[in-house]
Amino acid sequence: MNRVFEWQDAPEAEFAVIGDPVSHSLSPKMHLAAYASLGLPFRYVAIQVAPGDVRASLELLKKRGYWGVNVTVPHKEEALGWPTEVEPLALHVRAANTLDLRSGACINTDAPGFMETLAPLKVPRKDALVLGAGGSARALVYALVEAGWQVRIFNRTHEKAEAMAEEIGGRAVSVAAPENAGLILNTTSASLSGSDLPIAWAETAPDAIAYDLMYAKEPTPFLRTAAAHGLRTVDGRPLLAAQGALSFEWWLSRPAPRQVMLEALG
Ligand code: ATR
Repeated sequence: MNRVFEWQDAPEAEFAVIGDPVSHSLSPKMHLAAYASLGLPFRYVAIQVAPGDVRASLELLKKRGYWGVNVTVPHKEEALGWPTEVEPLALHVRAANTLDLRSGACINTDAPGFMETLAPLKVPRKDALVLGAGGSARALVYALVEAGWQVRIFNRTHEKAEAMAEEIGGRAVSVAAPENAGLILNTTSASLSGSDLPIAWAETAPDAIAYDLMYAKEPTPFLRTAAAHGLRTVDGRPLLAAQGALSFEWWLSRPAPRQVMLEALG
């Protein structure tokens, strides 16, 4: 658990993550491990910001001398309202997770970070079944489609999957049937409520990879069920490390210690 500061009480530091809630974020631990390994004197803190306060909080952090801010749930869209320069990808997927307060620019490192995590997995087919059509799904579906993947989108509320497919790409499906998929990607928060996703596991190709954006000490229910069906599984840690490394590199113009950052996540 992080020590969390209300944004009005933000301490002196160079970097921060803002979110609501933010106490469970592993970003401070990960970035501090990176700084320590390179002998960099930077501070990285967790700051609580309520919806509606994103702009005011960023202005205050800028005044207090912060260099960079990571943005987590639920502020990635609201954060677009502040910077002066939004990169086209962040604008298109309506989500910025990395801001440079010195220049007023923002980018999305979730999409490229996610693609980085796929490379070592050697996914057998560029064919994904994506579960969920919320804010997290948008950037990743966009990245997959751009990289030439076939993408099926299944969502509890089907109309949202259709709207996302129309806007971002991919194809909305009304049953979560994973035949032929090389990747089954869970972007939903179903595991938070302990609910099961209606996936036809018996139809999954045995070489498919189950990937959950969530992570916890124990495997999520989605990954537990996938493993029980013999699939390879990946949780959200590699993505957290990859997006964090890209943020680090954008802010500091030097290579991030990726292995250190991944190991800091436990
Ligand atoms: P995020 O920014 O994390 O993606 P979000 O935009 O609130 O959060 O989206 C949450 C996603 O998880 C949605 O796709 C949601 O489905 P609905 O559009 O039907 O609400 C999905 N989700 C949340 N709880 C779920 C559950 N218990 N079962 C299935 N899907 C769930």
